[in-house]
Amino acid sequence: MLRLIALSLSVAPSLTSIAGAQERVPLTSLDLTHLRQGWGEPQIDKSIEGKPLTIGGRTFEHGLGSHAASVLRLQLDGGTERFTAWVGVDDETEGRGSVVFKVYGDGELVFDSGTMRGGDEARELDVDLRGVQQAMLVTTGATDGIDYDHANWAEATLHVTGAKPRAVGAPVEAKVILTPPPGPEPRINGPIVWGVRPGRPVIYRIPCTGDRPIVFSTEGLPGSLTLDPAKGIIEGVAPERPGPIEIVLRAMNTYGSDERPFELRVGDELALTPPMGWNSWYIHYNRVTDVDMRAAADAMVASGMANFGYRYVNIDDCWMKKKGDEPYRDEGGAVLCNAKFPDMFGMTDYIHSKGLLAGLYTSPGPWTCAGYVGAYEHEKKDAAKFAEWRYDFLKYDWCSYNGVAGEGADRLQRPYTKISAILGELDRDIVLNLCQYGMGEVWKWGGDVGGHCWRTTGDLGLARGGLLPGFYAIGMSNARHFEYAGPGRWNDPDYLLIGWVGNAHGMGEGKPTTLTGNEQYSYMSMWSLMAAPLIFSGDMTKLDPFTLNVLCNHEVIEVNQDPLGKQARIDVELEDTLILAKELHDGSIAVGIFNLAETERAIAFPWGIVDRHGQSNGWGVLRIRDLWRQQDLDHVTQELRDLTVPRHGVALLRMWGHK
Ligand code: GLA
Repeated sequence: MLRLIALSLSVAPSLTSIAGAQERVPLTSLDLTHLRQGWGEPQIDKSIEGKPLTIGGRTFEHGLGSHAASVLRLQLDGGTERFTAWVGVDDETEGRGSVVFKVYGDGELVFDSGTMRGGDEARELDVDLRGVQQAMLVTTGATDGIDYDHANWAEATLHVTGAKPRAVGAPVEAKVILTPPPGPEPRINGPIVWGVRPGRPVIYRIPCTGDRPIVFSTEGLPGSLTLDPAKGIIEGVAPERPGPIEIVLRAMNTYGSDERPFELRVGDELALTPPMGWNSWYIHYNRVTDVDMRAAADAMVASGMANFGYRYVNIDDCWMKKKGDEPYRDEGGAVLCNAKFPDMFGMTDYIHSKGLLAGLYTSPGPWTCAGYVGAYEHEKKDAAKFAEWRYDFLKYDWCSYNGVAGEGADRLQRPYTKISAILGELDRDIVLNLCQYGMGEVWKWGGDVGGHCWRTTGDLGLARGGLLPGFYAIGMSNARHFEYAGPGRWNDPDYLLIGWVGNAHGMGEGKPTTLTGNEQYSYMSMWSLMAAPLIFSGDMTKLDPFTLNVLCNHEVIEVNQDPLGKQARIDVELEDTLILAKELHDGSIAVGIFNLAETERAIAFPWGIVDRHGQSNGWGVLRIRDLWRQQDLDHVTQELRDLTVPRHGVALLRMWGHK
């Protein structure tokens, strides 16, 4: 916000023209392959629809026809004096659309058109760029998305006296590992409360970092459960009597020891903190095999992810028979696996032997989204089979159910009510993940129909449009439903798509994510603040140090796994800044300050946020910790005015107030 003050002051200075020495370079003569825009392809001397450039009834012969949201970076190297243009929404939208045009010079905003609507007269801009090394032309969709945002930069001209201007791509950011590696001494991580139903099987691997061998022990473990002291895996059957059981978990090695209270809550509720794990979809798609699943379980342990609390190893779609590949079911009506899953029992045993849990997927409809056999009219048989195979998690994906849903006010709820009643009768605990893309405001009723988490949006891997990566749009829409989340009831904005990950559109092979390091920190911060399930869906066998650093910061995960189970509230939502604040059980608050702009910016520090969230007695902030760096900020005085936050990046803080 600080920098916006400079706005429009530097607009249209009347410069004396430097006759003779100046070359007029049309913007459209530069390499426009570097222009990123929300829709269509850039057009030269034409509107985005290929018509003459027309703004507010006036036609322009030359210029760039583009579409918000867009960004074009210009390398000027101090050689350009001015940039001139007429901007506005093309008349072809017939009055629709709204666009903001902005120009930055070396990160400073030097022109801001304000919201320009379809039909508005063209606005002239004349910006002084003397000495500027890099300029940036930006359009945004104002506050109402990018529909009909046909953005024209008419007669756009660079007035050049020195170095030739060039269009360039986004800056290459180094991926910086911010988090110190875990020490050699034991540190027990993970949730401090775990829900189980009476008499059901329990497998709980104690997440713990530190050099092996570690000797684990417990205090207060009920007699029906045993601990493997070398592996740190608790196994057995939950006590029959409902109620909380207070346990102490301990770990010791030659470097030291750690202990942590742990409540085993015997009752009806599961997933008392958001589920953490891995899902096969965005890397293996319909290629997924038994071998991939075992490799993922191996990697979850070998990479150290399990030491931070990741435990579900979940197959997504495509383990059953494909349409046309009959028979689909055995003689008793039980669903059959395809040839890539020859031994479901062996596979879940393998996953469980590591203290991890296993998940799978189906649809209430006759077919899954990828065209494999769903559970329709076989729900009871299939659920019994899943329990027999010893699964612990089910993703139940609407897909083809539309065709059989019928009518009635409860058509959206019906398949989920049905499956959760069936799961409730089984002799296993199975966490139920609703997947129906947010229809009918599922966050308002997903918990009431027995879901433990529910997707609030369409597929994250398919999200497009805007200058920000898809996780931002999905995350911001999920963020609005904060009041509906709580223990055992989580909003699910889809998977963590970082690291080596597939291309959703083509169901293609994996590649390193195109997200910058800062974007990845933002992604994980947002998911942690929103108490979202932390389910990674990239390649488990290609985990690099940076990806692991993002996935495995115990202080960040602690925010996600906080037993109070609150989802962050939106504290500030501006075009360039988002601030989320999550109240934690110890009276502290986790705060994410996200910079949505195209450049690094100073963002005013949100003093007062601890009071706004009732986490202080009015005396303000006592302590602030930078969670990615795992460091206290030592200058906790009101002198801390601004935080410099990188492009699309975040400052993730935990703040304690005076109580
Ligand atoms: C839907 C879901 C995805 C994935 C695919 C599988 O698109 O939303 O998460 O499960 O189906 O086909």
